[in-house]
Amino acid sequence: MQIAKRLNDVGEYYFSQKLREIDAMNKDGKNVINLGIGSPDMPPHPDVIKVLQEESARPNVHAYQNYKGSPLLRNAIADWYKKWYNIELNADTEILPLIGSKEGIMHICMTYLNEGDLVLIPNPGYPTYSSAAKIAGGKCVGYDLREENNWQPDMEQLQQIISDRDSSAGGLIFVNYPHMPTGQLPVKEKLEQLITFAKQHSLLIIHDNPYSFILNDAPFSLLSIEGAKDVVIELNSLSKSHNMAGWRIGMLCGAKERIEEVLRFKSNMGRGGLVNDIFIRNISMRNIVNEAVLFDTYYEDAPAGASKDPNQQKPTDKHNRRAHCQQPVNIDIRENCGLGLN
Ligand SMILES: Cc1ncc(COP(=O)(O)O)c(C=O)c1O
Repeated sequence: MQIAKRLNDVGEYYFSQKLREIDAMNKDGKNVINLGIGSPDMPPHPDVIKVLQEESARPNVHAYQNYKGSPLLRNAIADWYKKWYNIELNADTEILPLIGSKEGIMHICMTYLNEGDLVLIPNPGYPTYSSAAKIAGGKCVGYDLREENNWQPDMEQLQQIISDRDSSAGGLIFVNYPHMPTGQLPVKEKLEQLITFAKQHSLLIIHDNPYSFILNDAPFSLLSIEGAKDVVIELNSLSKSHNMAGWRIGMLCGAKERIEEVLRFKSNMGRGGLVNDIFIRNISMRNIVNEAVLFDTYYEDAPAGASKDPNQQKPTDKHNRRAHCQQPVNIDIRENCGLGLN
């Protein structure tokens, strides 16, 4: 069977192939420890699972979801951004729920790339940036992240890559802090330089931010930098921070115009996710995320010195965690979030 030319340069996704190889090795009796994919090895909070069970038993929650996600979901995401990143986002116009950050990467590439458009990719970095960009016809060029540079972009190298190019040619640059795979945290000054660079060269920055609560006391959004909305789309996700990788709950945030542009592509593909909508519509991130169920109170063994009051705890308090699934968390996760379906 002839396959589409757009797949000529793209093999099966790196991890898809690698995990199959690992499976085969394990079947051969080798005990391979897989450090390759950031899938959490703990379950979500039991209350979260309980709400999904209850809500999915309702007869009237199985229809198509809203293309833009339910208003309650978008409001919850806006509250979450305000609480953790101190950013005001307009819930109606600046937020687009996703079924994971990975989905957003493809939507963005399909929305913004023409054949041969430049896509700057961090090296090392998440393989999906280049595979999605190639499928969409982009020309991927790696930019190096080196230890001696604190795993930050080298602005001189970026200038060189872009030097012989028409400054209005467009294109994308992917950025990801906290960085996978090094764990490097965001450095605000560097990111400010990157925003200036993107403005000078008419690039759109895609900040992929699913690790903002991992080993990080100060969750950071690139949208918090003055003027960022002009050139930044941010992707975010509950996969890693909330042990919910399989639930597929993510979001894309940015200026109203960017949301409308991405929706032009996305609305032709999907319709939101069942879990995404049922779950957040009724639990609300306001409660599951803000009030520390998933971050802190779920785990018995807070580190020495950590507050017992969930509202005082920091995201990193979870890192000494040990599950205590028997001990229910005593908060009303449905408070203020509209129990009925809308
Ligand atoms: C850097 C990075 N971005 C995005 C993703 C995908 O996240 P999601 O589960 O939200 O699609 C991963 C998953 O491993 C990742 O490492």
